[in-house]
Amino acid sequence: MHAIRSRGSIDADRMNILGISAHYHDSAAALVIDGVPVSAVQEERLSRRKNDAAFPLLAIEWCLEHAGLEPEDLDAVVFYERPMLKFDRILTCALRAFPRSWRTFPEAMKSSLGDKVWVRGTISSYLGVPARKILFTRHHQSHAAAAFLAAPTDRAAILTTDGVGEWATLTVGHGTRRTNGGGTTITLPREVRFPHSLGMLYSAFTAYLGFAINEDEYKVMGLAGYGRPTVVDKVRRLIHQTADGAFALDLDYFEFHSTATRSYSSRFIDLFGPPRPAYEPIDLSSADGRRFADCAASVQCVLEDTLVTLARSLHEETGLSDLCLGGGVALNGLANARILTESGFSRVFVPPAPGDAGCALGAALYADRIHFDGPDRHIPDHPFWGPSVDGVELARLASEDGHLVDRCEDEDVLIRQTADDLTAGRVVGWMDGALELGPRALGHRSILASATGTEMRDRLNREVKFRDEFRPFAPVVPIEAADRYFELPAGGARLARFMSAVFRVRPEWRTALGAITHVDGTTRLQALDREMAPRLYALLQAYGRRTGVPVLLNTSFNLSGEPIVNRAVEGYSTFLRCGIDVLVAGQTRVMKKVSGASRE
Ligand SMILES: [Fe+2]
Repeated sequence: MHAIRSRGSIDADRMNILGISAHYHDSAAALVIDGVPVSAVQEERLSRRKNDAAFPLLAIEWCLEHAGLEPEDLDAVVFYERPMLKFDRILTCALRAFPRSWRTFPEAMKSSLGDKVWVRGTISSYLGVPARKILFTRHHQSHAAAAFLAAPTDRAAILTTDGVGEWATLTVGHGTRRTNGGGTTITLPREVRFPHSLGMLYSAFTAYLGFAINEDEYKVMGLAGYGRPTVVDKVRRLIHQTADGAFALDLDYFEFHSTATRSYSSRFIDLFGPPRPAYEPIDLSSADGRRFADCAASVQCVLEDTLVTLARSLHEETGLSDLCLGGGVALNGLANARILTESGFSRVFVPPAPGDAGCALGAALYADRIHFDGPDRHIPDHPFWGPSVDGVELARLASEDGHLVDRCEDEDVLIRQTADDLTAGRVVGWMDGALELGPRALGHRSILASATGTEMRDRLNREVKFRDEFRPFAPVVPIEAADRYFELPAGGARLARFMSAVFRVRPEWRTALGAITHVDGTTRLQALDREMAPRLYALLQAYGRRTGVPVLLNTSFNLSGEPIVNRAVEGYSTFLRCGIDVLVAGQTRVMKKVSGASRE
């Protein structure tokens, strides 16, 4: 444990706010200066430990260094939730469930007392900032702020949904920007409280289907595409609508509220059958494999129905045309697409990091606009708040190892060469500028490949990503061309800006775009705006000129179980360990010695 050292500089005129999320999963830090984000990064991207939940010392250090700030320059440090409230929830649940909770209790005490409850002291000792500068937002206020304050809308309804914060698992309300003299407001008048939780319901199925909770929920969504919702009626026994339009879980089917080790009960197993053993491959041709896929499809269906019902009543109640979605459940692209088309809202916004990592940014923005009553500011509409990649570093590393290295000072040449690589069927590691905040590669840390044919999908799963074969890949397409290949509803292109929704591939393109078309004909596309990632946009155009179809497969630049790459050395290491043929970082292009030549 070391404190961040002071380097001694100060700009007294600026308002410097540091946001922190930590101690649950996916820690992060974000710096907001004069109301505008300057830097934000997840701890895992720097520590290289996937879903790193530790106090984000590296992320904080980088954010401050990037802005040339010292800890004493900070006007406020904002933690993304209220530790004592969370502690209260853990304590209450443990006591209520005693003696069943006797195993959970020491665990909860250890983790809460060890980290969360003493957050103020931790922050103070690491950063050397006085306790009076340390503020706390509520967990769902942070989600709401991340969703609303960064979205290009002046007034919007807000719906946040996750596993659990302090007590809240879902909040509804609305936000107003400070325009025409009024102050910025975020009002969340109603909430659903733990243990009633859509996120926990979905996570219980994630565990039941043999995947990792808080990490593999998207695998359940992918598996759902292979199943039919044949057990929807059974899932509905687990959750029912309440008189106020919200929902409640039947707690007899769950154990997440009373044990440390299991999220579903023996009654759940009686209802759905034996769970899938983790790490065993899913054989979709077997009866059990189909049963698991049907379970995934059924819980997905119930989740979507519940969210659409909530969003629809929120629309009727507020009469607003815009909706901002926050919380980890807003990563569910199938649900988001249905909310857009069925709830009555014209526009739906999901930030690039709707989960807890994005709460670091949300907490800082909330403090600026609400606590300090700061003026409204335009927030750039992109996810690129992390460290920049250094192409010179890549050139040095690759030259030392004897790879073929091009330093392309002419941008057009680099784009043309890379488009040629992709056209020839090579897999390209693509690093450009600042790292994305959030779980999705949106054009700066991507693995790119031809989207044509299922061979490329299988090759990527086998040689590059080393992952389950049912996992679909996503495409990226210039926003102007998206309609040609994908069935986008009104407002769909906006939702596809950060890959937040799943839409249908047009039937006539499903075979040609086989590598990115899921078994049910859908895909989670990114509709790329030129301004957001101009180099990738230029690459798509160049590729389109060669092949007639400006659509590329775009998957996050990481191997299974590893965080997305950050620096050139991490991209280079990944490039060496898998079937990527070409690596581009900045102006540097590297061809692999052996496999590059063999794929000519
Ligand atoms: Fe959360």
